[in-house]
Formats: sequence, C-alpha cells, structure tokens
Amino acid sequence: MKNNHNNCRICNKNIAPFMSFGEMPIANGFLSKDQFQNEYFFKMETAFCDTCKTFQLIDQPQPTKMFNENYPFFSSLSKYMQLHFEKFSEYILDNFISSKKDTFVIELGSNDGIMLKNFKNNNIKHLGIEPSTNVAKIAKDNGIETISKFFDENLAEEILSNYGKADAIFSANCICHIPNLNSVFRGVFKLLKDEGVFIYEDPYLGEMLKKTSYDQIYDEHVYIFSITSVKNIAERNGLELFDAERQITHGGSMRYMLAKKGSRKVSSNIHTFLKEEDNLKMNSINRFDIFKEQCEKSKKDLFDLLVKLKSQNKRVIGYGATSKSTTILNFSNIDENLIEYICDTTPLKQNKFSPGMHIPIKDYNNFKNNYPDYAVLFAWNHKKEIFDKEQDYIKKGGKWIHFIPEVSIEP
Ligand code: TMP
Ligand code: ZN
Repeated sequence: MKNNHNNCRICNKNIAPFMSFGEMPIANGFLSKDQFQNEYFFKMETAFCDTCKTFQLIDQPQPTKMFNENYPFFSSLSKYMQLHFEKFSEYILDNFISSKKDTFVIELGSNDGIMLKNFKNNNIKHLGIEPSTNVAKIAKDNGIETISKFFDENLAEEILSNYGKADAIFSANCICHIPNLNSVFRGVFKLLKDEGVFIYEDPYLGEMLKKTSYDQIYDEHVYIFSITSVKNIAERNGLELFDAERQITHGGSMRYMLAKKGSRKVSSNIHTFLKEEDNLKMNSINRFDIFKEQCEKSKKDLFDLLVKLKSQNKRVIGYGATSKSTTILNFSNIDENLIEYICDTTPLKQNKFSPGMHIPIKDYNNFKNNYPDYAVLFAWNHKKEIFDKEQDYIKKGGKWIHFIPEVSIEP
C-alpha cells in the first residue's frame, strides 16, 4: 500500500528509508510457470520513525495481493506451533477469563482456527477474523465462528452491534501485517469491555537486530515492533501496554499485553524492557545503519558460500519454502543455479516456484529419498522440530547451512 509521501504510518511525521532491499515479489506468492510473466514486484524499503520509534516498510502491496483465497500458510501444519497455541490459549484462559459463561473472545488473523478451537472446545463464545478465505474456510468447516474480512475500526463497529463487547482480543503473527494500525487499535478500544485485554504476539525487533534476521522483513510485515513503539502506538489510541513477555516462536517474538489506559497496573517488566531497548540503542537511527551493513555482509557470505559449493559440484537444496526465504533469495540473488530445489510439506506450495527467483518447490520426499550434500535451513525458526526428525540426514553425512545469526555450516 502506497505510503503517503513517506510519512510515518503511525504518527504521520516525515520518514526516510535507511535501506532498500530492492525489487521484491509477494513473499507467499508461490507461482506456476505461466504466471512468471505477470509476477508482481514492489520496491522494499525500510524506515525507522525517529518520533514514534516504529520500524516500518515504506510501501506495502495492497493487502488483497497477499491475503486472499490462495494464502498458502496453514498454522496447523507445525506441531510445535499447535502446542504453542494451546499454551497461549491456556495462558489467556487462566489469567484473563474469570468465568467461561458470558465471556466473548475475538482473534484477529485466526487462520485455520488453530487457536480458537481451544476456546470453542471450552464452549466459550468466540469470533475469528481472517481475510484469507481458504484458511478461514477450514476454521468454519470445523465449527469456528469466522468472518472473512480485514479488521479495522469499521468492522469493529459491525462486530460490536452484532456480538457485543469482548473480554479478550488476541492475535498472533497478524497485527504486524496491518498498515492502518491506528484504526485497528481504535477498533480494539471500542470493542473491549472496560476491564478487557488485548494480547498479541509478533516477531520482536530486538531479536531481529540481535540475529540480523532480516528475513523477518517482507511484504506482510509492514511493522517489526519493539516495546517502545507498541507503548507509543497504544498511547495514541487510548490503550496502555501493561505487560510483555518474550516468546521463542517465529525466531524470537514478543507477547504484548494491553488494556484501556489506567485499567491495569503496569508491570515492572515494561520499565525493564524500555531500559534495555535504550541501552541497545534500538531507538536510534544509527543502530539501523549498522543493521544495514550486517544485512549486506550476510547476503555476500551466503552467496559466496553457495558459489563455492557449486564450483565443488556439491548438491545444495533449501529446506522449508518459508515466506521469509523470499527476502533472502531475492536480496542475495540466489536462483536454481545455486539451490536445486526447496522442499516443503505444504501441498499448496509444492510443484510451484519460489517468488521472484523461481526455484522449484518440491515435495518433502525428494529430500528424504535422495539426500543432498547441503540443505539451507530456511525454516530456521523450526530448527528444533526439524532437527528432531532429520537425525538420519546428519548420520548419512548431510550438512546444514545456516544464515542466522551468521552464515555457517553444521556439523
Ligand atoms: P514459517 O517459518 O512461516 O512457519 O513457515 C514454515 C515453512 O516450512 C512452511 O512452508 C512449512 C515448512 N516446513 C517444512 O517443510 N518442514 C517442517 O518440518 C517444518 C516445521 C516446516
Ligand atoms: Zn512515527
């Protein structure tokens, strides 16, 4: 979505990009050969607003280009994520829901219902908001009440008149996708009961800077939040950040807990995080100039390694056609010459090609039945789950290539 003359999406102050990642396709836009000609690209530039301290993309494709009937991301495919959402649900139930009767919860970006099913099974009145119709259909088919629309202030009013106010609104890996965030926060404010909570998780800026995990930056992630920025965004919209907790999901996330201003005691955790962010210079534009250099080094190291392995006639494949890998591959200019194919367990991605660089995506069995010499771990955030099941690959002499936090080979 075109940003208005490079103004901050939150506070409207002027912002300038500190870095360009070049022309990028839709990160989840896996495509067939006949679609190569018409593939959509946008210039991916990142900025840091010195006023409200929000890290953001300058431009973002229209949301309907990303979240539609072909959205290939099904949360329920990872068993570790299933477990995470079970725990997240329990956490909300234990801490913020006093009685199951008369309770109403809403999830923003409810995907295939992975989280809400835990509330449905407890007979709790619930509503999922999920604009990608294919994943929403799975949730609906499983009896989870779902609306297939983009959430904003207007939809909040509609929900309010049809369902009433909510005790808890939550979201995982979705709020950072939504460009008109002030409208979302205002909508949340209107929908929440006075003592209600708004809890969401997203990849954390502090982790991205620490690990140079620049693959968190792609079309969908219009923001990468910090404690400082969320505090500022909340304050603009009548809300208050009262607690936060680190999460290991998606390569290092943060769970933000918000409520109507003044309705809850603010935890000392917030003060500690704010101090830490200041100490790490996360609120200063200089830190992002350093990040830029680190991204460029990472890109060069990965490209050089793959060129070297190619010259040694090694077979290299990619493991996990993640949305994040689209940034790595396009920024680092890695194509089928350097990576033979990428294996992935998602049927909707298989037999298609990676966005932009057009590396073939293949069924997992291609890997299992004919191990390569090296596998680039694109799904690095699922390392534990993957390493648990790929012991045999290592035993047979297979090697992993990592690029987070820096380019390396294991074992
Ligand atoms: P994510 O990083 O956005 O969660 O996407 C993970 C991708 O990796 C998804 O397309 C599924 C794929 N994947 C595998 O192919 N094998 C696996 O064992 C795991 C955990 C993920
Ligand atoms: Zn701003």
